[in-house]
Amino acid sequence: MHPISALLTHLPTLLLFVGVCAGHLALLSVSLNVWYGHPFPKTFLSIQRKLHTLLVPVGLVALWALYGFNPAAAWNPPPTGWDVVPAIYVLCCIVMGLVVLPLATAARVLRRLPALLLSNHTQTIDVAQKLGYKPVGDGKHRNLARLPFNEVFSVDLTEKTFHLPQLPPAWDGLTILHLSDIHLCGTPEREFYFHILDICKDWNPDLLALTGDIVDSPRHHRWVLPVLGRLRWQCAAFAILGNHDVWYDPQRTRRRLERLKIKVLGNSWQQLEVRGQPLVVIGHEGPWFGPPPDLTNCPPDAFRLLLSHTPDNIPWARRHRIDLMLAGHNHGGQIRLPVIGSIVVPSRFSRRYDCGVFHEEPTLLHVSRGLGGQHPLRYNCRPEVTKIVLKASSR
Ligand SMILES: [Fe+2]
Repeated sequence: MHPISALLTHLPTLLLFVGVCAGHLALLSVSLNVWYGHPFPKTFLSIQRKLHTLLVPVGLVALWALYGFNPAAAWNPPPTGWDVVPAIYVLCCIVMGLVVLPLATAARVLRRLPALLLSNHTQTIDVAQKLGYKPVGDGKHRNLARLPFNEVFSVDLTEKTFHLPQLPPAWDGLTILHLSDIHLCGTPEREFYFHILDICKDWNPDLLALTGDIVDSPRHHRWVLPVLGRLRWQCAAFAILGNHDVWYDPQRTRRRLERLKIKVLGNSWQQLEVRGQPLVVIGHEGPWFGPPPDLTNCPPDAFRLLLSHTPDNIPWARRHRIDLMLAGHNHGGQIRLPVIGSIVVPSRFSRRYDCGVFHEEPTLLHVSRGLGGQHPLRYNCRPEVTKIVLKASSR
């Protein structure tokens, strides 16, 4: 038989085989993401991660051993007894790999950015080049930072302009420095943060918003003052903590932030006057710290800015009429494949809010890719610091 004719003959089987493999990987990835979106103990999540990693090759080998290159054999002849279990899994993989994954990927690629995002400009700073060496430091996972093409030291300094029709006219041009997921843990070393935060200091924003995961080791609380002490702002600075802060004496981190005059909101809200107009800033550290903030006595007409470590709190934000929500946590997935995008995203919504800007009435959500990470590994997903400019009009 001619090779092309042979290929065409076996194309459906080949497609099915590729679909089953892709579906198997996608199901495990979604499962791990959802586990990590919940506040389970660190050890339990670590076991889940190892288990899921192990199931990748074990599942593929098992499916190949059972059905070879022909997944259709799972249902032909119809399974009996326990054979129905792997047959149902094969069916799930086919649906996931050939229907859900392509549709979800197409929806992500074709997603239109919210009209409220007026502009988005990025300047990339290669800190390793500026310093003349890679600031690898002495973190537990420092060797990952040395991998070729790793973008962990190339930081995107981004300026995003949001049109918020409900913004008081007096705030037109108001700026917020959104910094998230610094993960002080030894890698990158302090000079990396000094270099980036010195640039942020020159932006002189009106407000500073820190959305959690600040300290990520038992030894690096001492970095909080020298690193974040470089920041400047005009009106006020606010912070909340994230899931990694929970593991390393969060009260110590809160005290250090307060020493820098950064108001640590926790699960509470505060009202202040900015340019003569009331602003309510709300912190939401759930699901790792509870209970959620109580907005019963919160003034209904004031502009509401929410700092939430995870974007998973977007349904809560919508229910409580939040105007602008700033989040981090997902790191953009840290490794983003061409077309497909992120894979590992610790969220109940899996990849849906991995990074970027989302408008879900009445809330505009900005999810930062963050500046650091416990695992210094970034491909096609550079660290990010964002200056947000608020506009009352669309011009
Ligand atoms: Fe983080």
